[in-house]
Amino acid sequence: MKTKFIKAASARTLRPGTMQRVDLDGSRILIANVDGSYYAVDDTCSHEDASLATGSLKGELVKCPLHGSRFNVRTGEAMEEPAQENLRTYIVRVEGDDILVGLG
Ligand code: FES
Repeated sequence: MKTKFIKAASARTLRPGTMQRVDLDGSRILIANVDGSYYAVDDTCSHEDASLATGSLKGELVKCPLHGSRFNVRTGEAMEEPAQENLRTYIVRVEGDDILVGLG
């Protein structure tokens, strides 16, 4: 299936060190700005139903607000228990001020 890129956020408002949850085509996705590079992963923690966007971002690591698991937003890797499953990652493309996320 061909990847479809959808506008998800604005590079003007998503500043370095911040993240944002977006709902795209029925998927809840977290977009993070790490030192000017954008990454997209599932927003829902792989442990239970928590929105990672309400956690905290330090470098490449997002910390779940519920039980403290950390995930790498670049690779989706679960770095700290209790979460054991990695997050799905998405391709990100920037066009001007638009941050696009690839779905499908
Ligand atoms: S819901 Fe995220 S660590 Fe438990």
